Amino acid sequence: MDRKIAIKVENLYKSFGKGESYISVIEGASFEVYKGELVALVAPSGAGKTTLLMMIGCVEDPTRGTIWLGDEKVYENRWLTRETRRIRREKIGFIFQAHYLIPFLNIIENVTLVPQVNGVPKEQSEKEAMELLEYFDIAEKAHSMPSELSGGQNQRAAIARALANNPEIILADEPTAALDLDRSFDVVKMLKKIATDQDVAVIMVTHDEAMLPLCDRILTIENKKVVSKESKEAKIL
Ligand SMILES: Nc1ncnc2c1ncn2[C@@H]1O[C@H](COP(=O)(O)OP(=O)(O)OP(=O)(O)O)[C@@H](O)[C@H]1O
Ligand SMILES: [Mg+2]
Repeated sequence: MDRKIAIKVENLYKSFGKGESYISVIEGASFEVYKGELVALVAPSGAGKTTLLMMIGCVEDPTRGTIWLGDEKVYENRWLTRETRRIRREKIGFIFQAHYLIPFLNIIENVTLVPQVNGVPKEQSEKEAMELLEYFDIAEKAHSMPSELSGGQNQRAAIARALANNPEIILADEPTAALDLDRSFDVVKMLKKIATDQDVAVIMVTHDEAMLPLCDRILTIENKKVVSKESKEAKIL
């Protein structure tokens, strides 16, 4: 099968600090993630999972190496565009452990914020947001505030927001950490469905082994490099 690459990382390095506070986190990571894949990123605390997602998401500066997002080479020892923010807005949806919905905006305002910043007309962005909220079974909460929703509902709203922009890539950092098992399954199944139906590449950091069978593949960080495993090997991680 001819799979299309969504993310390609080559010989990526990342260190923090200088002198006594110097710490090397990633040393020569090379891997690819394909469109339509839900990939779990599993490694011990402090191994560099969040750091890796933030580099792919054009938030954290790598030390050196190369990053492609789709056909666009975005980093080669330096950012190749001054507009990393644009790349982030256009290509990437972020989901975090805490949902980070903006507390003083209601759900539909949260979901339509970035599309409107990107120039989508208000009416159109609201129509598309309602479709997403319906898909996630929280349409009746569109005009509620985040504080009025349950943890699972807020997390689904956060996923709707991440999707509102039709991103090519979704980077999810422990999206199920605050949820019970049933809700966690729901969220991961949704990520899987999005990957399959919309040909989106999803990288999901998780510490929850129960979620791994739903993933297509496991990436882990070993010896400061990224290693790919088939998901059937997941149990032994
Ligand atoms: N801004 C920073 N300055 C200095 N060190 C940092 C910074 N950000 C991360 N680190 C260090 O880089 C290493 C990797 O951190 P990172 O947050 O990526 O780990 P992680 O795999 O996401 O861990 P966890 O599972 O606990 O979230 C850690 O040793 C951390 O202390
Ligand atoms: Mg982390």
